[in-house]
Amino acid sequence: MKVGVFIPIGNNGWLISTTAPQYKPTFELNKAIVLKAEHYQFDFALSMIKLRGFGGKTEFWDHNLESFTLMAGLAAVTSRIEIYATAATLTLPPAIVARMAATVDSISGGRFGVNLVTGWQKPEYEQMGIWPGDDYFARRYDYLTEYVTVLRDLWGTGKSDLKGEFFTMNDCRVSPQPQSPMKVICAGQSDAGMAFSAQHADYNFCFGKGVNTPTAFAPTAARMKSAADLAGRDVGSYVLFMVIADETDEAAREKWERYKDGADEEALAWLTTQSQQDKRSGSDTNVRQMADPTSAVNINMGTLVGSYANVARMLDEVATVPGTQGVLLTFDDFLQGIENFGERIQPLMSCRSHIALSAKEVA
Ligand SMILES: Cc1cc2nc3c(=O)[nH]c(=O)nc-3n(C[C@H](O)[C@H](O)[C@H](O)COP(=O)(O)O)c2cc1C
Repeated sequence: MKVGVFIPIGNNGWLISTTAPQYKPTFELNKAIVLKAEHYQFDFALSMIKLRGFGGKTEFWDHNLESFTLMAGLAAVTSRIEIYATAATLTLPPAIVARMAATVDSISGGRFGVNLVTGWQKPEYEQMGIWPGDDYFARRYDYLTEYVTVLRDLWGTGKSDLKGEFFTMNDCRVSPQPQSPMKVICAGQSDAGMAFSAQHADYNFCFGKGVNTPTAFAPTAARMKSAADLAGRDVGSYVLFMVIADETDEAAREKWERYKDGADEEALAWLTTQSQQDKRSGSDTNVRQMADPTSAVNINMGTLVGSYANVARMLDEVATVPGTQGVLLTFDDFLQGIENFGERIQPLMSCRSHIALSAKEVA
């Protein structure tokens, strides 16, 4: 199973809490995180794009770097780990994203890929006058399909002439082309999003579910697998989890309870309001579930809380779910969390035994 890190491009990572570690996103912090992840043989690092925060006492995500420029910097200071940036496709024409990606491909020596997002939070786009109207909620994957067609044309042949509903290309050119086939990833959870990924993405991210229920996302992975089978392509699921680990279950549980007790209610109220804005797509979109009170403090991303041994065991369970190819991890404290993962958790994971072997080979 592949392992990636979802780096904290926004303040405080993924804990909407006054009692969680409080920090601003900087290049230096993310550089230290990605270098540590590379050291422990993580396969990839991804950053999101977020253009409007949730406010509240913690000013949650009011402070966010830009994904492509951050990843370009990280590409320059790393050598093995794969690097993924997120394109907010409403904000940038595809021919510009194609050229930006070709540039980071060159910086990274072919280790780069792009996460395509349609956008689900209207204020991110409305604040700059580019929200296309609420019908967009229902049409967003039609838009993304044209968008990716232009990208694939430009990366594949250097040219696009697409005459679509959303984009008109007139002998558009991009060169140089990427030295390695450009990976496209997406995080569709709705049927339309998964059908998009099945046709156009190399793999699809999904949310893990619940606290210490490592296989609860299995129905989501099964839906992705059916969509991929229908499209005749191999598109696996990569599952998002937060790891809160310590020497003992009790110590880890104590941290988790403390973070929940400090939940930033004002920021969470904004999340609840935002997650209910999409009245146009079906109930299959998952953004409404992010604000579910069960675990809103970390956006209901799926949480593994426990001793190093128990977290390792749960991650091995994740790997057994059909259609799962990887996990994308967040941590309460990224630097300490990655070190604990590399030193204490990963060596106990059967699905990462190839890493232990290659570490010995290096030694
Ligand atoms: C791992 C992961 C990363 C995501 N990154 C972003 C992001 O950077 N920006 C964003 O607006 N949405 C992001 N999303 C939300 C998805 O793009 C998508 O809107 C959401 O999962 C709902 O799926 P649906 O559009 O199929 O309903 C992310 C979701 C996941 C699971």
